[in-house]
Amino acid sequence: MQPSTPNKPLRLGILLSGRGSNFLAIAESIRTKKLPNVEIAIVISNVPEAGGLTSAQDLGLPTALFVSKGRKRAEHDADVLACLRDHNVDLVILAGYLRLLSPEFVAALPNRILNIHPSLLPAFPGLDAQHQAFDYGVKIAGCTVHFVDEHLDHGIIILQRAIPVLDKDTAESLSARILIEEHLAYSEAIARVASGQYEIQSRRYIKKI
Ligand code: GRF
Repeated sequence: MQPSTPNKPLRLGILLSGRGSNFLAIAESIRTKKLPNVEIAIVISNVPEAGGLTSAQDLGLPTALFVSKGRKRAEHDADVLACLRDHNVDLVILAGYLRLLSPEFVAALPNRILNIHPSLLPAFPGLDAQHQAFDYGVKIAGCTVHFVDEHLDHGIIILQRAIPVLDKDTAESLSARILIEEHLAYSEAIARVASGQYEIQSRRYIKKI
Protein backbone atom coordinates (compact mmCIF):
# COMPACT_ATOMS: atom_id res chain seq x y z
CA MET A 1 0.00 0.00 0.00
CA GLN A 2 1.23 3.50 -0.79
CA PRO A 3 2.16 5.50 2.33
CA SER A 4 -0.61 7.88 3.38
CA THR A 5 0.25 11.59 3.37
CA PRO A 6 -1.46 14.78 4.61
CA ASN A 7 -2.55 15.41 1.01
CA LYS A 8 -3.78 11.87 0.55
CA PRO A 9 -4.93 10.46 3.88
CA LEU A 10 -5.81 6.81 4.17
CA ARG A 11 -9.59 6.50 4.12
CA LEU A 12 -11.06 3.95 6.51
CA GLY A 13 -14.37 2.16 6.15
CA ILE A 14 -15.46 0.88 9.58
CA LEU A 15 -17.78 -2.13 9.75
CA LEU A 16 -19.42 -2.84 13.10
CA SER A 17 -22.37 -4.59 14.69
CA GLY A 18 -22.22 -3.64 18.35
CA ARG A 19 -21.02 -1.19 20.99
CA GLY A 20 -18.11 0.03 18.86
CA SER A 21 -15.46 0.66 21.50
CA ASN A 22 -12.68 -0.26 19.06
CA PHE A 23 -14.12 2.14 16.50
CA LEU A 24 -14.21 4.91 19.13
CA ALA A 25 -10.60 4.21 20.14
CA ILE A 26 -9.57 4.56 16.48
CA ALA A 27 -11.58 7.77 16.11
CA GLU A 28 -9.87 9.16 19.22
CA SER A 29 -6.42 8.22 17.87
CA ILE A 30 -7.23 10.12 14.69
CA ARG A 31 -8.51 13.14 16.64
CA THR A 32 -5.40 13.27 18.81
CA LYS A 33 -3.11 12.73 15.78
CA LYS A 34 -1.72 9.52 17.25
CA LEU A 35 -2.96 8.14 13.95
CA PRO A 36 -1.89 10.82 11.45
CA ASN A 37 -2.89 10.99 7.78
CA VAL A 38 -5.89 8.75 8.37
CA GLU A 39 -9.57 9.62 8.18
CA ILE A 40 -12.84 7.76 8.64
CA ALA A 41 -14.73 7.80 5.35
CA ILE A 42 -17.80 5.84 6.44
CA VAL A 43 -19.10 3.78 9.36
CA ILE A 44 -21.34 0.92 8.28
CA SER A 45 -23.46 -1.26 10.54
CA ASN A 46 -25.42 -4.39 9.72
CA VAL A 47 -27.44 -4.08 12.95
CA PRO A 48 -29.87 -1.17 13.46
CA GLU A 49 -29.40 -1.06 17.24
CA ALA A 50 -25.59 -1.05 17.16
CA GLY A 51 -24.29 1.43 19.72
CA GLY A 52 -21.33 2.14 17.48
CA LEU A 53 -23.67 3.45 14.78
CA THR A 54 -25.17 6.00 17.18
CA SER A 55 -21.69 7.00 18.38
CA ALA A 56 -20.60 7.60 14.78
CA GLN A 57 -23.66 9.75 14.13
CA ASP A 58 -22.94 11.70 17.33
CA LEU A 59 -19.41 12.34 16.03
CA GLY A 60 -20.85 13.65 12.78
CA LEU A 61 -19.30 10.91 10.68
CA PRO A 62 -20.94 9.54 7.53
CA THR A 63 -22.86 6.37 8.39
CA ALA A 64 -24.81 3.71 6.57
CA LEU A 65 -27.02 0.84 7.70
CA PHE A 66 -27.35 -2.33 5.64
CA VAL A 67 -29.43 -4.78 7.64
CA SER A 68 -28.05 -8.25 7.01
CA LYS A 69 -30.65 -10.34 8.83
CA GLY A 70 -32.54 -12.51 6.39
CA ARG A 71 -30.47 -11.46 3.39
CA LYS A 72 -28.22 -13.60 1.24
CA ARG A 73 -24.60 -13.01 2.21
CA ALA A 74 -23.39 -12.23 -1.31
CA GLU A 75 -26.19 -9.72 -1.93
CA HIS A 76 -25.68 -7.94 1.36
CA ASP A 77 -21.91 -7.81 0.86
CA ALA A 78 -22.34 -6.39 -2.65
CA ASP A 79 -24.29 -3.47 -1.16
CA VAL A 80 -21.61 -2.90 1.48
CA LEU A 81 -18.84 -3.08 -1.12
CA ALA A 82 -20.60 -0.56 -3.35
CA CYS A 83 -20.97 1.81 -0.39
CA LEU A 84 -17.27 1.46 0.48
CA ARG A 85 -16.37 2.24 -3.12
CA ASP A 86 -18.72 5.24 -3.21
CA HIS A 87 -16.81 6.61 -0.24
CA ASN A 88 -13.36 5.91 -1.74
CA VAL A 89 -12.35 3.63 1.10
CA ASP A 90 -8.73 2.41 1.07
CA LEU A 91 -8.83 0.12 4.08
CA VAL A 92 -11.75 -1.72 5.70
CA ILE A 93 -11.69 -2.06 9.49
CA LEU A 94 -13.79 -4.79 11.06
CA ALA A 95 -14.59 -3.50 14.54
CA GLY A 96 -16.83 -6.09 16.13
CA TYR A 97 -18.54 -6.94 12.84
CA LEU A 98 -20.54 -10.06 13.62
CA ARG A 99 -21.07 -11.31 10.13
CA LEU A 100 -18.96 -13.65 8.03
CA LEU A 101 -17.75 -12.03 4.83
CA SER A 102 -18.47 -13.60 1.45
CA PRO A 103 -15.49 -14.89 -0.56
CA GLU A 104 -16.33 -12.27 -3.22
CA PHE A 105 -16.05 -9.45 -0.70
CA VAL A 106 -12.68 -10.68 0.61
CA ALA A 107 -11.35 -11.24 -2.93
CA ALA A 108 -12.35 -7.69 -3.91
CA LEU A 109 -10.13 -6.23 -1.17
CA PRO A 110 -6.97 -8.34 -0.90
CA ASN A 111 -4.98 -7.35 2.20
CA ARG A 112 -7.25 -4.33 2.48
CA ILE A 113 -9.42 -5.64 5.32
CA LEU A 114 -8.26 -5.70 8.95
CA ASN A 115 -9.83 -7.51 11.88
CA ILE A 116 -9.14 -7.56 15.60
CA HIS A 117 -9.64 -10.74 17.56
CA PRO A 118 -9.50 -10.98 21.36
CA SER A 119 -7.04 -13.89 21.58
CA LEU A 120 -3.50 -14.70 20.57
CA LEU A 121 -4.30 -16.40 17.27
CA PRO A 122 -4.18 -19.13 16.13
CA ALA A 123 -5.43 -20.04 19.62
CA PHE A 124 -9.14 -19.61 20.26
CA PRO A 125 -10.65 -18.42 16.97
CA GLY A 126 -14.39 -17.84 16.80
CA LEU A 127 -16.83 -16.49 19.33
CA ASP A 128 -16.14 -15.77 23.00
CA ALA A 129 -12.38 -16.07 22.57
CA GLN A 130 -11.65 -14.51 25.97
CA HIS A 131 -13.88 -17.04 27.74
CA GLN A 132 -12.37 -19.87 25.71
CA ALA A 133 -8.87 -18.80 26.79
CA PHE A 134 -9.91 -18.31 30.43
CA ASP A 135 -11.66 -21.68 30.61
CA TYR A 136 -8.67 -23.39 28.99
CA GLY A 137 -6.47 -22.00 31.75
CA VAL A 138 -3.91 -20.14 29.66
CA LYS A 139 -1.39 -18.00 31.53
CA ILE A 140 -0.87 -15.49 28.70
CA ALA A 141 -3.80 -13.96 26.81
CA GLY A 142 -4.13 -11.04 24.45
CA CYS A 143 -5.35 -9.84 21.10
CA THR A 144 -4.40 -10.06 17.44
CA VAL A 145 -4.82 -7.64 14.54
CA HIS A 146 -4.69 -9.44 11.21
CA PHE A 147 -5.50 -9.07 7.55
CA VAL A 148 -8.71 -10.86 6.65
CA ASP A 149 -8.65 -13.78 4.27
CA GLU A 150 -11.36 -16.23 3.30
CA HIS A 151 -11.01 -18.27 6.52
CA LEU A 152 -12.29 -17.25 9.94
CA ASP A 153 -9.72 -15.44 12.14
CA HIS A 154 -6.94 -16.75 9.93
CA GLY A 155 -5.26 -14.04 7.83
CA ILE A 156 -1.73 -12.68 8.09
CA ILE A 157 -0.94 -11.31 11.54
CA ILE A 158 0.10 -7.65 11.74
CA LEU A 159 0.61 -7.46 15.49
CA GLN A 160 -0.33 -9.01 18.79
CA ARG A 161 -0.41 -7.67 22.34
CA ALA A 162 -0.12 -10.08 25.26
CA ILE A 163 -1.02 -9.82 28.94
CA PRO A 164 -0.65 -12.26 31.84
CA VAL A 165 -3.73 -13.99 33.17
CA LEU A 166 -3.85 -13.27 36.90
CA ASP A 167 -4.90 -15.79 39.52
CA LYS A 168 -7.58 -13.39 40.70
CA ASP A 169 -8.97 -12.89 37.16
CA THR A 170 -12.48 -13.80 36.15
CA ALA A 171 -13.43 -14.21 32.50
CA GLU A 172 -14.95 -10.73 32.72
CA SER A 173 -11.90 -9.01 34.26
CA LEU A 174 -9.66 -10.72 31.72
CA SER A 175 -11.91 -9.58 28.85
CA ALA A 176 -11.80 -6.02 30.17
CA ARG A 177 -8.00 -6.01 30.30
CA ILE A 178 -7.76 -7.55 26.81
CA LEU A 179 -10.08 -4.79 25.54
CA ILE A 180 -7.64 -2.13 26.80
CA GLU A 181 -4.93 -3.84 24.73
CA GLU A 182 -7.25 -4.03 21.72
CA HIS A 183 -7.75 -0.30 21.76
CA LEU A 184 -3.98 0.23 21.63
CA ALA A 185 -3.31 -2.54 19.14
CA TYR A 186 -5.82 -1.51 16.49
CA SER A 187 -4.55 2.05 16.08
CA GLU A 188 -0.96 0.84 16.05
CA ALA A 189 -1.73 -1.75 13.37
CA ILE A 190 -3.57 0.81 11.22
CA ALA A 191 -0.61 3.19 11.56
CA ARG A 192 1.72 0.44 10.39
CA VAL A 193 -0.42 -0.39 7.38
CA ALA A 194 -0.92 3.31 6.58
CA SER A 195 2.86 3.81 6.56
CA GLY A 196 3.12 1.40 3.65
CA GLN A 197 6.48 0.38 5.10
CA TYR A 198 5.95 -3.34 5.15
CA GLU A 199 6.17 -6.37 2.98
CA ILE A 200 4.47 -9.72 3.13
CA GLN A 201 6.59 -12.85 2.87
CA SER A 202 4.40 -15.91 2.69
CA ARG A 203 2.31 -15.59 5.90
CA ARG A 204 4.71 -13.13 7.52
CA TYR A 205 4.11 -9.41 7.86
CA ILE A 206 7.55 -7.76 7.95
CA LYS A 207 8.18 -4.13 8.86
CA LYS A 208 10.57 -2.45 6.42
CA ILE A 209 11.71 0.22 8.89
C1 GRF B 1 -13.89 -6.97 20.42
O1 GRF B 1 -13.58 -7.79 21.53
C2 GRF B 1 -13.18 -7.48 19.20
O2 GRF B 1 -11.95 -8.06 19.47
C3 GRF B 1 -14.13 -8.51 18.65
O3 GRF B 1 -15.41 -7.97 18.89
C4 GRF B 1 -15.35 -7.10 20.02
C5 GRF B 1 -15.92 -5.79 19.58
O4 GRF B 1 -16.01 -4.87 20.64
N1 GRF B 1 -13.86 -8.77 17.25
P1 GRF B 1 -16.36 -3.36 20.34
O5 GRF B 1 -17.70 -3.34 19.62
O6 GRF B 1 -15.27 -2.78 19.51
O7 GRF B 1 -16.45 -2.72 21.69
